[in-house]
Amino acid sequence: MTQLLRDSFGRVATDLRVSLTDRCNLRCDYCMPAEGLDWLAREELLTDDEIVRLIGLAVQRLGIRTVRLTGGEPLLRRGLEPLVAAIAALTPRPAIALTTNGIGLAARAEGLAAAGVDRINISLDTLDPDLFQRITRRPRHADVLAGVAAARAAGLDPVKINAVLLRGVNEHEAWPLLAWAMETGVQLRFIEQMPLDAQHGWRRSTMITAAEIRARLSEHVELVEDPADQLARGSAPAELFRVAGTEHRVGIIAAVSAPFCGACDRVRLTADGQLRNCLFAREESDLRAPLRAGADDDALVERWLAAVATKRAGHGIDDPTFLQPDRPMSAIGG
Ligand code: GTP
Ligand code: 5AD
Ligand code: SF4
Repeated sequence: MTQLLRDSFGRVATDLRVSLTDRCNLRCDYCMPAEGLDWLAREELLTDDEIVRLIGLAVQRLGIRTVRLTGGEPLLRRGLEPLVAAIAALTPRPAIALTTNGIGLAARAEGLAAAGVDRINISLDTLDPDLFQRITRRPRHADVLAGVAAARAAGLDPVKINAVLLRGVNEHEAWPLLAWAMETGVQLRFIEQMPLDAQHGWRRSTMITAAEIRARLSEHVELVEDPADQLARGSAPAELFRVAGTEHRVGIIAAVSAPFCGACDRVRLTADGQLRNCLFAREESDLRAPLRAGADDDALVERWLAAVATKRAGHGIDDPTFLQPDRPMSAIGG
């Protein structure tokens, strides 16, 4: 029997985002400090068997249809391909998506696709190798570009590129990034920066807004709001715009200036087995402790249903009482 993960506002979670590790091989300035963070110890991480058991319950008993693997950087998880294959072997088989920084993807995209990854989103904030190193503190720009090419060559479609624009850093790259995406055949999405950085340095006043991004792009191309895209958007974070005269789409994820919480269909599982009903949730619900204490499926399902039921209406970033969550994005899964 399926019991839907319904919250008190009637939203139903069908998309499970699973963080596989809190570690990352980049140190993006807007995400974490140069020295990294206090990483979770190995024994704190869910094992592959624990992850597969929980995802199995989610798809068999709780109506989850899509699983997105995130991090930290999910390619750093040892044995990722067999884990993907085990998730793909579940019945019903969920759609499997991956969000990665692209490092190491060049050698692995084909194997990941063969194991069952259906879609890949890759982060890339700049086309300039020097600026890439300044933002990420690592000289790995070429690896990411090679990863993008490999994802395309592996037949993954669409390949989506996530870019965060930062004031005074890469804000001038809105158009160059879009021109590159059109040339390369990937779908670019700009993400408004959210207050989820480990250093708590985010400021609403300096964030580059969706309106600003649109204005910058509109100096070069006309962006068309297609009614068909709006109808098809559903719960997707990105609003899509068609580049006039082409069939190319560019997305803007206006998480702060135009929140999409009313249509949210997402629930998150951290690498250490905590359920979060929202990126910005203040509480987590521990699945790892009952799992390791031998809880049966019914008990885990009950806990999961209860965790989602208490989801708040929205993130409340603009509320005067807003508090950034204790964990940064890298430890939650984006
Ligand atoms: P698609 O299904 O490909 O559209 O995936 P996605 O956009 O949900 O996934 P991705 O991991 O690429 O996330 C892109 C950006 O959207 C990241 O910065 C996420 O943190 C942000 N994002 C994804 N889901 C949510 C959400 O529920 N709330 C907020 N505020 N941001 C989200
Ligand atoms: N706000 C918005 N997006 C962020 N990302 C990382 N930190 C933030 C933040 N504070 C982006 C990454 C990646 C995606 C998963 O989330 O750049 O593209
Ligand atoms: Fe859903 Fe929370 Fe994201 Fe809003 S901020 S869309 S409620 S996960």
